[in-house]
Amino acid sequence: MIERAETIEQNALEEIDQTADAGTLEEIRVKYMGKNGLLTQVLRSVGQAAPQDRPRIGQQVNKAKQAITESLKARREALAPLGTRPKASIDYTLPGRRPPFGQKHPLTLIREEVTEIFHEMGFGVVDGPEVELDYYNFEALNFPSDHPARDTQDTFHIGDDIVLRTHTSPVQIRTMEKQQPPVRVIAPGRTYRHENPDASHAFTFHQCEGLYVDKGVTMAHLKGDMTYFARRLFGKNVQVRFSPDFFPFTEPSVQYDFSCVACSSRGCKICKNTGWLEISGAGMVDPAVFGFVDYDPEVYTGYAFGMGLDRLAMFKYGIDSIHMFLENDLRLLGQ
Ligand code: PHE
Repeated sequence: MIERAETIEQNALEEIDQTADAGTLEEIRVKYMGKNGLLTQVLRSVGQAAPQDRPRIGQQVNKAKQAITESLKARREALAPLGTRPKASIDYTLPGRRPPFGQKHPLTLIREEVTEIFHEMGFGVVDGPEVELDYYNFEALNFPSDHPARDTQDTFHIGDDIVLRTHTSPVQIRTMEKQQPPVRVIAPGRTYRHENPDASHAFTFHQCEGLYVDKGVTMAHLKGDMTYFARRLFGKNVQVRFSPDFFPFTEPSVQYDFSCVACSSRGCKICKNTGWLEISGAGMVDPAVFGFVDYDPEVYTGYAFGMGLDRLAMFKYGIDSIHMFLENDLRLLGQ
């Protein structure tokens, strides 16, 4: 009976091996292990064998059963068409997951646009430190140490002679120290003032300085260039207005405004019903400043301007509060 079980096992494995069809596999299963299968019959007749032989016969039958079952299973899997194979841990047929794309911050967008426009107008880009010497932030810009104009710039002092720069104007001095005219640069960057926060004031903000020094530079160049710039940034109907102002490092000094782009100067919340958007200060470089950088004021003249980048971005993208730029709310960036 043991030999019989062995032969059955061998025959079954051979048949399974030669089969290329799932239906035939099922027939083989029934033939050997079904209710009246050949192996089942052997098992049933174990009772007729001599008692001492029974365990060995039982073992052999079980071994055959296991071998046949495993062989059937392996063959079935090998024959199954691709799509019905057991699931792999990754389903390659699913569409991929889209990685979330980042977006540029509005301040980056405005800086890039401003830089591009001035680049086309022949301006290079320069940079300066945010932690600045008093000398560059004030002294060389013609703010003597006891000058009341210092009070207009609520300064964070780091040490006796070190401040967080209150404006980008110190980059004017650093640039002129390093190079002779003609100078035509802008300097975008971060600035700091100890201000009471409101919708348009924060302890840190961004400016873009402009400086053009050469022979024969006049106020007309300043007006023409600022008007061209305003129209490139906000559209060709924008008007630019200059009104008298004071800065120690420019003479004459002006404040300049753009006509309100949101309401075409009819009056709205953004321009506080004035029709004008205040941009920043500008003017002709004071000859006293040239004294600090060894430029001859008899030969050269120049204009300088500041520009609030946060303000420009707020006007351009309709952002209500300067604080939104720093709040890190991704919904602002996702728009
Ligand atoms: N730095 C000045 C400010 O922040 C603006 C300014 C720049 C004025 C250049 C004149 C010339 O208020």
